[in-house]
Amino acid sequence: MIQVKLELDQMFSFISKDQLLEYDKHIVSAYRKIYNKTGAGNDFLGWVDLPSAITEQEIASLEAHAAELRKKSEVFVVIGIGGSYLGARAVIETMTHHFSALNDGGNNPHIVYAGQHISEDYLADLLDILDKKEYSLAVISKSGTTTEPAIAFRVLKAHLEKKYGLEEARKRIVAITDKSRGALKQLADNEGYVSYVVPDDVGGRYSVLTPVGLLPIAVAGINIRELIEGARKMEAMSRAVQKIHGNPIAWYASARQALYNSGKTVEVMVNYEPRLFYFTEWFKQLYGESEGKENKGIFPAGVGFTTDLHSMGQYIQEGLRILFETVISVENPKREMLVPEADTDLDQLNYIAGKRLSEVNHKAEQGTTLAHVDGGVPNIRIVIPEINADTIGQLIYFFEMGCALSGYMLGVNPFDQPGVEAYKKNMFALLGKKGFEAQTAELQARIKQ
Ligand code: PA5
Repeated sequence: MIQVKLELDQMFSFISKDQLLEYDKHIVSAYRKIYNKTGAGNDFLGWVDLPSAITEQEIASLEAHAAELRKKSEVFVVIGIGGSYLGARAVIETMTHHFSALNDGGNNPHIVYAGQHISEDYLADLLDILDKKEYSLAVISKSGTTTEPAIAFRVLKAHLEKKYGLEEARKRIVAITDKSRGALKQLADNEGYVSYVVPDDVGGRYSVLTPVGLLPIAVAGINIRELIEGARKMEAMSRAVQKIHGNPIAWYASARQALYNSGKTVEVMVNYEPRLFYFTEWFKQLYGESEGKENKGIFPAGVGFTTDLHSMGQYIQEGLRILFETVISVENPKREMLVPEADTDLDQLNYIAGKRLSEVNHKAEQGTTLAHVDGGVPNIRIVIPEINADTIGQLIYFFEMGCALSGYMLGVNPFDQPGVEAYKKNMFALLGKKGFEAQTAELQARIKQ
C-alpha cells in the first residue's frame, strides 16, 4: 500500500475542488501519451516501468559489487552532475547520519561528490582527504562528455593511479555510462573498468532507479530493495488509476497546473527535516529541466524550515504573490528527544518542557502553513509516515510521474533540455575549443576581459 498522502485542504480557498476536477481530462490525455508512448520525447519513457522491470539478478549483482567496494573504501567518490548525481545524493542524504563525516565507527564508507561543479578549491581539498583515505570511485555520465565530471575524473583517475598503481586503480573505478556511445564507454572498455549501462530511453534526471543512483546508494549501505519496492508500489498505483480520483500524483499535477494558470508561477518545496535538503535539490532539477522551456513553466524553488523562516520567510509571507508551497511533511522522526525542564525558565520555554521536539516542529509547520495561506500562498501538503527507503522510493516515483504529467499538461516535452547547451557553447568558445572559434571574439568583446 502506498503511504504517501496528499492534502490539498489549504489550497482549496484559492482553487476549488471542482475547478481541479476540470483537469481530469488533461490528466487522462497526459497518461495516454505516457503509457501509449505518443507524446513528445516518447523515446525517453524507459523510467516509467524501471521499478517493476529491474530483475532480481540485476539487484543482487549491484548489491554484491557494492559490498566489494564498501570493503575497500573508507571514502567513495561519486563523480557526476545533474541527473547523474542528484538522485543518488538525494537518497543517500535522506538516510545517512547527519554527522556521518564525524561519526567514527560507522560501517559505511563516507560518500563524497565531485564533478558537480568546477571549483578548483573543492577538488584540491578533496585530494587532501583522499591522500589519507582508502577510496574508490564511480564516474557517472550518460553522454560521457560532460565537462564538469570529465575534469574531476581526469584529476581523480591520475590521483588513484598514483596512489594504488594502475592495476589496483582500475579495480577501484566503476563507470556508469551509455551502452555504446561516448568517450567514457570507450575509456572504460580500454581500461577494463567494471561498467554499468544507463539505458538509452532513460534521461539523466529520471535515472535514479538505474545503476546511476542504485550503485552509490548501495555502497552507502542503504537497502536498494526497499527503495525499489517503494517505487514499485507507486508505479502500480499510477498504472492502475490513470485519472484524478484515487491517484495522489494526478491530484498533485492538476493542482500545480491550476495554480500556474492562476498566476502562481513559483513552486517552493518546503521541508522541516534537513535530511531532505538534497531531495529538494533533486526535485528542483527534475522539474526545472523538464518544464522550463518555450518561455513557460513553474519555477521550482526550495526552502528548509524552520531555518529559512528566518531568511526567506519574510518574502514568502509578504513578497510578490506568485508563490505556492509544496510541503513534504514527515510524521515520525527516527529518534526521540524532549525539551528539557529548566529551574530558572529564563528563556520561558518551560511551557513546552517534556514535549518532543517533533511536536514543536509540527506545530511550527501548522502555524507557518496557516500564516502563509493567510498571506496568499496556497499550500500543497505531501505527508509520509517516516523517512525510510520505502517511502523515499514512493516519493521518487510520485515526483517523476508528477513531472511527466505536468510537462504534458503544460504542452512541453518533459524529457529534453535544449536550453542547457547555451552556456556550454559559450564556455567552449571562450576556452578556445576546436569548432567553437567563430564565437570566441564576439563573446570576449561582450564580457570586456
Ligand atoms: O537530466 C539530465 O539529462 C541532465 O541533468 C544530465 O543528467 C546532466 O547534464 C549530466 O549529463 P551526463 O550524464 O551526460 O554527464
